Amino acid sequence: MVDAASFKGRDIISMREFNREEIDLILSTATDMISLVDKGSDLLRGKILATLFFEPSTRTRLSFESSMHRLGGSVVGFAQPQTSSVAKGETLADTIKTVESYSDVIAMRHPSEDSSIVAAEAASIPVINGGSGSWEHPTQACLDLHTILTAKGTIDGLTIALVGDLLYGRTVHSLAVALRNYDVKAYFVSPDQLKMRDGVIADVKGKLDYEETSDLNSILPELDILYATRVQKERFKDHADYEKVKDAYLINKAFLEGAKPELRVMHPLPRITEIATDVDGTPHALYFGQVKHGIYTRMALIALVLGAL
Ligand code: NCD
Repeated sequence: MVDAASFKGRDIISMREFNREEIDLILSTATDMISLVDKGSDLLRGKILATLFFEPSTRTRLSFESSMHRLGGSVVGFAQPQTSSVAKGETLADTIKTVESYSDVIAMRHPSEDSSIVAAEAASIPVINGGSGSWEHPTQACLDLHTILTAKGTIDGLTIALVGDLLYGRTVHSLAVALRNYDVKAYFVSPDQLKMRDGVIADVKGKLDYEETSDLNSILPELDILYATRVQKERFKDHADYEKVKDAYLINKAFLEGAKPELRVMHPLPRITEIATDVDGTPHALYFGQVKHGIYTRMALIALVLGAL
């Protein structure tokens, strides 16, 4: 049986590790956290979260830290690895074996794809993956699902397009894998050069009703959720290749006139040019509302893996 206690001590590395029952429990726990944001809580008093961010971040790191504070816990960590012993050549495993003496749970972002697996193997405390190269970003997928569920009252039955950089975007990898647990129609919309990563296709095939296309125009009228993403400039080996695809999809207010009035546009942020600012004031815009679900969801995940519920 899946209950809160079964999450105690678990790492959160990949959405591949979670079935529908477990995702439902994470999402219902996130909903329970909403009232604690205003009331405040001492649930994690005396507990320490370490945030180790080896790559740039605004939302993910700050929301992990804010979530821990909201639950009465404290935070240590770094956002600039060049100020830590990593700059002296320390291995990730050694950094983790040290940090676990200072904390009860680790949230980490790192450019290498296997970083969260390496960290989880080295650590005796739970490791939460806050983004591992282009591979996965599972806590973002959880907050994306919570956003959809709150906005639409359901995830099952929806038509959802993941749009943009499906090759390098870790958020869409985790979200696509998570969606295989739901009865949704998914579209993977990208330029040919940025088609959904093979490993994700392999893991959703036969479980998720999906279609790949480069034509956003023709499917727009069907969509309930349009999940836009940034082309991941930092992952391109050749800058000229980035230039060719960086403006593949430009979503603006005029373009959305072809959509259902109930269409909601999401984005993990930061946005570059994918969504024009004239969308911000329309009822379609959900991307800034999406951000606060990062708090509820990360409060839930930290409390669950610490066995506090
Ligand atoms: C994303 C990331 O870091 O993968 N941002 C986030 O965590 N909200 C998306 C991106 O950088 O494009």
